[in-house]
Amino acid sequence: MNQAQVIEWLQKFADAIEQNKDYLTELDAAIGDADHGINMDRGFKKVMEQLPTVVDQDIGSILKKVSMVLISSVGGASGPLYGTFFLRGSTVVMGKQELAPEDTLKLLQAGLEGVVQRGKARLGDKTMVDALSPAVEAFRQAVDDRKTTESAMKSAIAAAEQGMKDTIPMIAKKGRASYLGKRSIGHQDPGATSTYLMLNSLFETIGEEGGKE
Ligand SMILES: Nc1ncnc2c1ncn2[C@@H]1O[C@H](COP(=O)(O)OP(=O)(O)O)[C@@H](O)[C@H]1O
Ligand SMILES: [Mg+2]
Repeated sequence: MNQAQVIEWLQKFADAIEQNKDYLTELDAAIGDADHGINMDRGFKKVMEQLPTVVDQDIGSILKKVSMVLISSVGGASGPLYGTFFLRGSTVVMGKQELAPEDTLKLLQAGLEGVVQRGKARLGDKTMVDALSPAVEAFRQAVDDRKTTESAMKSAIAAAEQGMKDTIPMIAKKGRASYLGKRSIGHQDPGATSTYLMLNSLFETIGEEGGKE
């Protein structure tokens, strides 16, 4: 994945957030405070505004910029968490103009570790970690099998989607939704949903590059 494709990923994600803004906010209305779509859309509009100032820089610097913009412009729990994801991801690809699949895996792994360290959520706590973690695992499998083809990336996307859907029966243990206890059962987690959109955008971009098998 080169710089242009990293930008393409971010653009796709920003578009997906815009298209799903109301949906994300509705999900957050059920178990939170009805602002997740608004938070994310505000943040990614700012990111897209600021990207032209860093497009010529290396991939680590681009992702660090994304992180800084998100931390400074997104309120709520999700701003610092997504900010941490991109910040920690950026440090392991700093200086790189191009990412091999192994580099992208390191980026995702570091981002996930950052989110877990910062938010202290475990798998099954009904958070963005529940979409991120299985997707990173599926991507690791694809890299181990030396496949970043369209079909392999569809499997990684499916893992993120399944992780997102698996949050429906969970009891929230972190964030605002945890105040509801058992009443959080039956609702899909908004952060897991936006994380699915982020990974869908990424794996689609990689799958286009990887080509068909
Ligand atoms: N401690 C945490 N660890 C991981 N993710 C979290 C944590 N707390 C909240 N989240 C994620 O943040 C999402 C809510 O984001 P948002 O609505 O933007 O922030 P807020 O809850 O402050 O209003 C949740 O759906 C969940 O996925
Ligand atoms: Mg909220």
